[in-house]
Amino acid sequence: MDAMISFSNSKCLVTFLLIIVLTITNCGEAKGRELQESNTLFIRSSCSSTTYPKLCYTSLVKHAAFIQTNPVLLTGTALNITLSSAKTTSADMTTMARSRGMGAREVAAMQDCVEVLADSVEQLRKSIGEMSHLRTSNFEMTMSDVQTWVSAALTDDTTCTDGFQETAVAGDVKTAVRGRIVGVAQLTSNALALINQLANSHA
Ligand SMILES: *[C@@H]1O[C@H](CO)[C@@H](O)[C@H](O)[C@H]1NC(C)=O
Repeated sequence: MDAMISFSNSKCLVTFLLIIVLTITNCGEAKGRELQESNTLFIRSSCSSTTYPKLCYTSLVKHAAFIQTNPVLLTGTALNITLSSAKTTSADMTTMARSRGMGAREVAAMQDCVEVLADSVEQLRKSIGEMSHLRTSNFEMTMSDVQTWVSAALTDDTTCTDGFQETAVAGDVKTAVRGRIVGVAQLTSNALALINQLANSHA
């Protein structure tokens, strides 16, 4: 009888402990999900004021765990994504300009574009560098510089797409290249909107 009781007690104890462990795990997961939800909600609502909110959201949501609900990290990440896209696009255009079957006019148009994109990359680099020194004491000056530089980067992107449009480059090449640069321009435009939003948040 004694043996029976202690057996059922230990079974009871195991069940009891198991329930506690499951409860803790479950609550931990629920808490994690809640945090994740508030992070993605923050990105969605911040992106709603940009010109391309869907692109803004899909490009940033991968970094939700890093950004959390911090507008400076959000803006910095948007700038980094834009820079990396501009660099890749510029490199791909250089490769395309060297590929066989490209006419002299196509090559010239691409080289012009690569030059303009190089300036855009420089403006974005400067902005990212300056953002890393953002403090309360230099907030207004930093944000004003970054607004100027990212606006210049956006102008470069537009110059490139317009210039390309006017050339007599073959249709499919033109469409492919334009599409890539338009993508960079849209990311740049979104980054600028987030920068403006951040700048205004302290006004
Ligand atoms: C952006 O990139 C720079 C340079 O790689 C890095 O120092 C910085 O931490 C990045 N910023 C964010 C918000 O990820």
